[in-house]
Amino acid sequence: MGTILLPLQRLEMLLSDLHPSPKHPPQVIVREIDSSSQQDLPTTTLETKSQTDPRRDSGASIAQPQTQTALVITPSRTYQLTSDFPAPASPGPGEVVIRTRAAGLNHIDWKSVEHNFCLPALPWVVGREMAGVVEGVGAGVEGVRRGDRVWTSTYYKDRRAGCFQELVVVPAHTVARMPANLGFASASCLGVGGLTAAMTLWRWLGLPMHPPPADGPGGARQVILIWGGSTVTGQFAVQLAAHVGWDVIAVCSDRTADLVRRLGPKHVVTYSGRADGEIVDEIHALGRGRISKAIDLVGPQTARVVLDVIARSEGVVDFAPLAFVSSKEAIPASARVHNVEMKQFVLDRASEVYAKRLNELVESGVVVIPKLRVIQGLGAVEGGLKQLKEGDLAGDKLVVSLSV
Ligand SMILES: NC(=O)c1ccc[n+]([C@@H]2O[C@H](COP(=O)([O-])OP(=O)(O)OC[C@H]3O[C@@H](n4cnc5c(N)ncnc54)[C@H](OP(=O)(O)O)[C@@H]3O)[C@@H](O)[C@H]2O)c1
Repeated sequence: MGTILLPLQRLEMLLSDLHPSPKHPPQVIVREIDSSSQQDLPTTTLETKSQTDPRRDSGASIAQPQTQTALVITPSRTYQLTSDFPAPASPGPGEVVIRTRAAGLNHIDWKSVEHNFCLPALPWVVGREMAGVVEGVGAGVEGVRRGDRVWTSTYYKDRRAGCFQELVVVPAHTVARMPANLGFASASCLGVGGLTAAMTLWRWLGLPMHPPPADGPGGARQVILIWGGSTVTGQFAVQLAAHVGWDVIAVCSDRTADLVRRLGPKHVVTYSGRADGEIVDEIHALGRGRISKAIDLVGPQTARVVLDVIARSEGVVDFAPLAFVSSKEAIPASARVHNVEMKQFVLDRASEVYAKRLNELVESGVVVIPKLRVIQGLGAVEGGLKQLKEGDLAGDKLVVSLSV
């Protein structure tokens, strides 16, 4: 037994609070979209408009706007919708400017404002994922053109990359084309939930990106435990792991069990109304000594329970506690804890392979986007983040759509 020290431990402690505070009605207009077709119906007409933009590919220069609408975090850390926030200057070498059509809402957004981290200066703009139309590219950018429909996943260090603004500037290697079967709202949630699941499995836990060959040697199937199978990130993780032939044990509540079952796990374990020890016993029995990877997507309490499962494992288990594990936690000798750093998508150009593979899996229908709830306009984001904090979305993904 020993302890681990994660470099981001304080920050992650702040990230860990998934559990809802006492309920109060969220001030947000919610429109539910049936995402079964993977298309966001409300954006269809807008998409047609962008495809027929006469400036596209014409080489004609577009007047550079001086200002833009943004949801700004003020020096007193309040949210302020402003229409005269400075627009970014022309993109620098290797950069891409994207006009936001939809952006995903994530826990990191409200947590960074509430607990004052990942805000290098104020005023600031938060928001880590978006989809939109390329407005311009800087010198040396290849493979991305004005008018392309793209999505991206951003890092907090550059105010221009905050996604709750009309124009977002990011490095070209973080820009991925939108899968042809997705609208902007669906594509806007690939950058955090989708990519985090993909990079956690493929980069940190070492799961394969492709299924084994049908005529391969076979052998005992490996098992991954995903605690939080109904979370947006968990829904992607369950599908990705099941696709490469792993047996997934997914933990969720009674209310989301049917949703999670549809994603293809081998077993769904519900936690509702049950003691931790009973759940550990059930997972241990289902794993039959074959659990070699684990993810927690809920918080320190559930990370502790996952560690209890790992303590009973015979071999080493790679564990990614995505919603924090305390540095004071006793780590069993059988656990190898991985600190997932999504900033590596921006810092390490080689990470673009993960976005490309995720795109292929979404486009081929292997990976289905979580059900969306779409709110309209940046002015609705503050209310949406309150709703996200409440934790009552039952697996739905909250995104904001911007009109053009
Ligand atoms: N490190 C990173 O880069 C990174 C990236 C992405 C996400 N994260 C973190 O991962 C966590 C999940 O994010 P998300 O956006 O995917 O979450 P989310 O979709 O907002 O998750 C909400 C869901 O959590 C489930 N849940 C609540 N308590 C649970 C419990 N005790 N056991 C199992 N499930 C429980 C609830 O469904 P049920 O009805 O099933 O309980 C709820 O619908 C957050 O803490 C987030 O900050 C970290």
